[in-house]
Formats: sequence, C-alpha cells, structure tokens
Amino acid sequence: MSGYKKFAIVGAGNVGGFIAEELLKKKDAGKIDEVVIVSRPESVDKEQNKTLAARGARIVAAAFDDVPALTKALAGVHVVISTISLLAIDVQVTVAEAAKAAGASVFVPSEYGGPTENLPGPLGAKGTLQAKLREVGPPTLVVYTGPFADFAWIPVVHLDVASGKVSVGGDGNSKISWTARGDLARFLAHVLVHAPASRLQNQTLRLEGDRVSFNEIFRGYEERTGKKLEITYRSTESLRQKVEENPYDFDADLHLNWATDGLVGEPDNALYPDWNPTKVVDIIAPRK
Ligand SMILES: NC(=O)c1ccc[n+]([C@@H]2O[C@H](COP(=O)([O-])OP(=O)(O)OC[C@H]3O[C@@H](n4cnc5c(N)ncnc54)[C@H](OP(=O)(O)O)[C@@H]3O)[C@@H](O)[C@H]2O)c1
Repeated sequence: MSGYKKFAIVGAGNVGGFIAEELLKKKDAGKIDEVVIVSRPESVDKEQNKTLAARGARIVAAAFDDVPALTKALAGVHVVISTISLLAIDVQVTVAEAAKAAGASVFVPSEYGGPTENLPGPLGAKGTLQAKLREVGPPTLVVYTGPFADFAWIPVVHLDVASGKVSVGGDGNSKISWTARGDLARFLAHVLVHAPASRLQNQTLRLEGDRVSFNEIFRGYEERTGKKLEITYRSTESLRQKVEENPYDFDADLHLNWATDGLVGEPDNALYPDWNPTKVVDIIAPRK
C-alpha cells in the first residue's frame, strides 16, 4: 500500500473525468480521503466540475501558470495527476514546480498514449518534457496506455468506422496496445492506492487493455455487424514523408507510429490481477 490518501487532478477533461470518477469510488469505499480537481479560473464552473463536486470532489480554481496559486491549491496532496490537454503540455512545468513546493510525493504527467521518448512532433514533445518535469517536480509516474480503445474512432484520424470508410498505415497487421479510458482510470486509481510507493516514484506504468491490429479489429467489426468496411492502406513511406514535411500532421504521425511501433512495451497489467479490461471489438461493435 502506498499510503497516499489525497489526490489532485489538474486539468480534468476527456481523460481526467474518468480518473476523478475512479478516485471518488475509492473515496466512497473509505480507501482515500480527498479528491481535488484543479481547474483554470475561466473554466472552474464547467458542468463536469459541478458533477464531480456533487460526487464529492473539492473543486479549486488556479491558473496553470501561477505557481503560488497552484501551490496553495495542492497543499497536503500526496499525488498530483496532470491530465492537461496536449495543446498546453508545456504548462505542466509550473504545475510540477507547484506540486513539489506543496510537498507532493508523485507527479503523473499528461502522457496516456504510446511511449513518447525519441518521437518527433507534438507527441515527442511530451517525451522531451519528462526530464524537465523530473528535474523541477516530485518523482514522476509516467503512464503509457496506447491509443484509447473508446476514443480513437473519429474522422480526424480516418477511423470513423460508423461512416464505413477507414484508413490506416502500413498493411494494417501491426499489433497495437489499446486501453479504454475507463480501464486506464480503474488501473491508475488501483495502483496509486495498492502499489508500494517505490513502484510509483520515478517509474513507468505500461497498460495494455488489448493487443490487436487494425485488420483484426476491422474483421471483428465486420463479423459482428455484418457491415463491410472500405479500408485504405497508406504506405509507411508516404506517412513518414508527411511527418518530415510537417511534424504537426497529427494523423500521419499517429498512423506512422501505430504501423511501426504501436506497442507500449512489456505490460504491467499484473499489478492489478482483477483488472479485466475491455476488448476493442467489444467497444466498437458490442454484442447484442
Ligand atoms: N491515447 C489516446 O488515444 C489519447 C486520446 C486523447 C488524449 N490523450 C492524451 O490525454 C491527455 C489529456 O487529454 P484530454 O483529451 O483529456 O484533454 P482535454 O480534455 O482536451 O483537456 C484537458 C484539460 O486541459 C486544460 N486545458 C485545455 N486547454 C488548455 C490551455 N490552452 N491551457 C491550459 N490548460 C488547458 C483544461 O482544464 P480546465 O478546463 O479544467 O481548466 C481541460 O479540461 C493528453 O496528454 C492527451 O494527449 C490520449
């Protein structure tokens, strides 16, 4: 048991909302004492915060670049979990500084995807930031999950299965680690409470809810739904060229990464033997 009882989530949005919910379940069960949500003053009154407040979270406003305000907001917190948007990833330096000033024992940076060390573009920026966060903040816990099994099926990355047309990199056979947001949240909440502190400080967690290729997912979808998908395969050479021309071509960057290096590494799933994560096909084509 880590002994950590007070948790803060800074920038709870698409991902942080799930983590807050799982921590609040631990609070309901008497396993932890407090869940603090730190939001920017301009969004502190958003609906999600009202819902979390009604569930028992304490909502605090602080600008993410205001070290004194953040330090006050994080006073007494053992674990600071950042789920700040990829668009504002650099602001985590001040959040980590404040977490350290407030005496936190662990800082979880906003990663939650595939490994980002030595990558180009916006995802690589996360990996580059890790050393700085370790330097200025408390010990870090880096969480890799692969793409979100419940959040990837969107037009902007050509994965809108509901439209009947999808496009992926390479031949579609590369295995990819997937994790749904709810499964990530359950795993993280469990481990932050039950693992020893030594497994949480300056450590990496690699979660793999499912390990399947795009072709396996699409076959499963077609079998379950009876709908045929029109699949376009884009060569890794063409994707690489696109990323070289524009490192911020997020679609090309992600598909190149998934086609060539889509695994999280050796999974740490055994840290939560009862985890029982959801399969990708059960999310995109649930059994009736
Ligand atoms: N593996 C995957 O498939 C996958 C998919 C999506 C995201 N992710 C990763 O998960 C992490 C969180 O992403 P998300 O989708 O949850 O983010 P999000 O909902 O877009 O944003 C999270 C929070 O960031 C804060 N924020 C937004 N814009 C900001 C700005 N300009 N300056 C300062 N703070 C700002 C907001 O906090 P307040 O409103 O509370 O102030 C917001 O609620 C990121 O690292 C992202 O890359 C992974």
